[in-house]
Amino acid sequence: MITVESLTRRYAGFTAVDDVSFTARPGRVTGFLGPNGAGKSTTMRVMVGLTVPTAGSATIDGRRFADLPNPGLEVGVLLDASAQHAGRTGREILAVAAATMGLPGSRVDEMLELVSLTPTEAGRRVRNYSLGMRQRLGIATALLGDPQVLILDEPANGLDPAGIRWMRDLLTGFAGRGGTVLLSSHLLHEIEVIADDLVVIGNGRIVASGTKDELLASAGTLARTPSPRDLAHALEQAGIPSTLAGDGSVRTEADPARVGAVALAAGLALTELRSAEGAGLEDMFLSLTADTQREGVAA
Ligand SMILES: Nc1ncnc2c1ncn2[C@@H]1O[C@H](COP(=O)(O)OP(=O)(O)O)[C@@H](O)[C@H]1O
Ligand SMILES: [Mg+2]
Repeated sequence: MITVESLTRRYAGFTAVDDVSFTARPGRVTGFLGPNGAGKSTTMRVMVGLTVPTAGSATIDGRRFADLPNPGLEVGVLLDASAQHAGRTGREILAVAAATMGLPGSRVDEMLELVSLTPTEAGRRVRNYSLGMRQRLGIATALLGDPQVLILDEPANGLDPAGIRWMRDLLTGFAGRGGTVLLSSHLLHEIEVIADDLVVIGNGRIVASGTKDELLASAGTLARTPSPRDLAHALEQAGIPSTLAGDGSVRTEADPARVGAVALAAGLALTELRSAEGAGLEDMFLSLTADTQREGVAA
C-alpha cells in the first residue's frame, strides 16, 4: 500500500504539488492521471526519496522509502527510462542492478525474457535503444528484486498498442498476485485500459479519485434531439444544469431517466439517450483538467 498524506512541494513560491492525499492499494493497478506539469513526477519522486516534501509525507507500507534497507526488494521503480548509462548494454544494466541487490545473475535472464528483450537486443548499448525498448528494460529493472510494490512514471510512453496491451497484462498479473501498482500517464486512453483505480491530478491538486467504474458511472447523461437548445432550456426550467456539446448533444449530471422525463414533458423527441460512460473518461478528464492545462509553467 502506498499512502500519500497532505503532500505539498513548493519550488521558490511555485506550488508543484498542493496538499495531495491518496492511496494505492494492494491487488489493484492505480492510475495517476494528469496533464503535463500537473505534479505526477514530483509526487512520485517524493515517494522514492528523490525529492524532499515541503510538507506531508509519502509512505510504502507505512515506511518511508529512505528507511527501507534494500529498497529494490520491496519497491520496483521506473521514473525516467532514459536515465540509464547509455554506454552500457541492457544486460549489463540489469547485471549491475542485480549485484547491487544481492540477487543471482540468473534473475537477469528471467527478466529479459519477461519483458521480451531478445539476447541480441540485450547485448546492444542502451544509447541505441528505442524509447519502447528503454521502457521494457526499465520495467525489467523494476521487477528484478521481485518487489510487492511498483512505482512507474509514464511507463507506457513510447510503447506501441501491442506494447501497451503487453504492459496491461503484466501489471494486471502483478496486481492479481497481491501486488500494488501505481503508474502515471498524461494519456487518458493508456490509463483507461490499464488501471483499476484512478487518481486524477490537475495543477498540483487531486481533482478526482475512485475506482475506474465509479468515475465512469459518474459521467452523467448524453441526450440527442433535433432541437438541443429547447432540451437545454427545458432541463434548466426543471432545475437541471446541462451543457450543449460541440457535436449537438446535450450533457448533464442528471441520470437518463430524469432527462427522458423532462424531454417527454416538453414534447421533445429524443434520438439518443444514454449514460455518458460510453464516451469513456475523456469528457471527465478534459473537463476536470481543462482549466489546469499547461506545459511546464514553473515560477
Ligand atoms: N526542480 C524543479 N524546479 C522548479 N520547478 C519544478 C521542478 N520540478 C518540477 N517543477 C515544476 O513542477 C510542476 C510539476 O512538474 P511534474 O511533477 O514534473 O509534472 P508532471 O510529471 O505531472 O508532468 C511543473 O510546472 C514543473 O515545471
Ligand atoms: Mg512527469
